Amino acid sequence: MAKKLDLERILSKQGFGTRKQCRIMIINEEITVNGEMCDDPDTELSLENLKFTVKNEPWDYREKSYLMLHKPSNYECSHKTQHHPTIYSLLPHPLVERGVQCIGRLDEDTTGLILISDDGQFIHKMSSPKHKVPKVYEVTCKHPVLQANIHALLNGIKLVDEDQTIAALAVEQVSEHVIHMTLAEGKYHQVKRMIAAISNRVEGLKRIQIGELKLPDNLAVGEWRWLSANDMARLSPS
Ligand code: URA
Repeated sequence: MAKKLDLERILSKQGFGTRKQCRIMIINEEITVNGEMCDDPDTELSLENLKFTVKNEPWDYREKSYLMLHKPSNYECSHKTQHHPTIYSLLPHPLVERGVQCIGRLDEDTTGLILISDDGQFIHKMSSPKHKVPKVYEVTCKHPVLQANIHALLNGIKLVDEDQTIAALAVEQVSEHVIHMTLAEGKYHQVKRMIAAISNRVEGLKRIQIGELKLPDNLAVGEWRWLSANDMARLSPS
């Protein structure tokens, strides 16, 4: 039988406040369920295809949230930031209340694709070094990138404070100063350190792909969207 839950508890679990706050919103007629106003907090509802509005804002019920964000520059990937606004300020408040986390941080000056979820297992799987989910970065370098540099990145580089050499999985030259570099790991400042090790310097860094999932052209800087079933399949190819 389909799982049922009362409206007050559903709203609270979706991140709309404490049970008491949600109860008050329901009694104040601020909630519709599947198109109908519902003012009884104890109404039992099936969670399947459940759509509601909260203060006229539409919201589809999701047990767990999985989304992608096009990170802008000058945003930090932590909840408590030091110098810049947090990426979480770009998301609807209920998601932040639900405790969503980004999967692998980007530096404040890095832009591009970042995944965000409140599913602990998914976060663990995607960030675990064991799973080695490849990530592709578009790297703009201060100096021209030479063939010898590309060979060095592919053959492996010994970074300060790392025991083993680290090699890029792939490097594609896009223009004299721009490469697409694929990495299996997500070590601290890894791209910038690898580029510094070939006597160059990163002037622009954008993550354009995770697994087989590309940053969509139509996702503007600062925008987010839910991950579709297709997107999820691209993250864990069989
Ligand atoms: N490597 C870096 O140096 N910075 C990032 O933000 C991501 C990968």
